Amino acid sequence: MNHTIYMAPMEGVTTAIYRGIFRKYFTGVDRFFTPFLGAGVTHRFKHKELQEIVPYDEKLIPQLLTADAEGFRFSAAMLQEDYGYGEVNLNLGCPSGTVVSKGKGAGMLADPEKLDRFFRTVFADLDENLEQGTGHPVLPKISVKTRIGLTDPAEAKTLAEVLAKYPLYEVTVHPRVREEFYRPGVHPEAFRTFADVIGTEKLVYNGDLFRAEDLQRLDALQDGRYRDIPIMLGRGLIADPALAREMKGGEPLQKEELRSFMEDLWQAYREVVGSDRDTLFKMKEIWFYVGMMFPEEKRELKEIRKANDGPAYRAAVRTLFSAHRENHFSGAYHAI
Ligand SMILES: Cc1cc2nc3c(=O)[nH]c(=O)nc-3n(C[C@H](O)[C@H](O)[C@H](O)COP(=O)(O)O)c2cc1C
Repeated sequence: MNHTIYMAPMEGVTTAIYRGIFRKYFTGVDRFFTPFLGAGVTHRFKHKELQEIVPYDEKLIPQLLTADAEGFRFSAAMLQEDYGYGEVNLNLGCPSGTVVSKGKGAGMLADPEKLDRFFRTVFADLDENLEQGTGHPVLPKISVKTRIGLTDPAEAKTLAEVLAKYPLYEVTVHPRVREEFYRPGVHPEAFRTFADVIGTEKLVYNGDLFRAEDLQRLDALQDGRYRDIPIMLGRGLIADPALAREMKGGEPLQKEELRSFMEDLWQAYREVVGSDRDTLFKMKEIWFYVGMMFPEEKRELKEIRKANDGPAYRAAVRTLFSAHRENHFSGAYHAI
């Protein structure tokens, strides 16, 4: 098994601060994505968005959320020309009501013809777009991250056929439909449809990989055909930040490194967001996932959720780590 591993974009969770501290502590992740950024012909990246992409990071791929093809081109070109990024990802998966109602994210899967028109505009005149003399297109490489449909996994075939028409650099498939949000259970057969239509060279798998053993499930998906395709880890990696390292044959998560990691994260957020209250809000979002590593310490986790100032929070975290007697977490983690 030799998968390249990506950290999934997670709005509010995999921020630049999180990714920075993560990389101080954990190996195994080859590429990172920003949570979705706005795009548009009049869009200027806001301060919060700029923090995600500046300074340039060769392991980072900015992700855009927009249904406006011209706007996508404009912002993608800006990410390349002004900020140095050679690849930009398009979000075709966000299930949130406010996003979908504007026809963005997973909302773009509602009408395959419209999606086709979107890409026709994005990739129009690509050849004419070659920069004089350099041979480099003005647009960066375009990849997408998509669900398999809006309401029915059977939509996968038509959507894959649309995507197959365009020179996408990579297609990350999260085999759930929009209506399923993140409910347990994915649709392997719809992923296979994408593999059949698009080919496995460009394909990336994302969804419900929570433990190192889950890779075997993926590898068994189609007679080992997907053995080496890149995988993207979301909630499982936030719950167990050593997951990618372990999947690559390294050490499973150790209690001490998790403790220092969470402490560093607190410090880093506290410095940037400036108040205990807002820092707590961020940390509780991360504990929502990390807490899965402590199935026996429900009472201590509740104290973390209840904490409403810095000292109470840090005392609760100390109590949690002392209550967890083992130095490791093997076997403790239950799928979300
Ligand atoms: C809180 C949260 C925020 C997310 N934000 C984004 C996002 O900004 N862009 C995106 O493409 N997907 C986003 N996702 C989806 C994840 O990238 C990923 O596709 C999903 O969690 C399934 O993978 P997993 O089973 O490994 O968690 C988000 C998911 C969650 C739970």
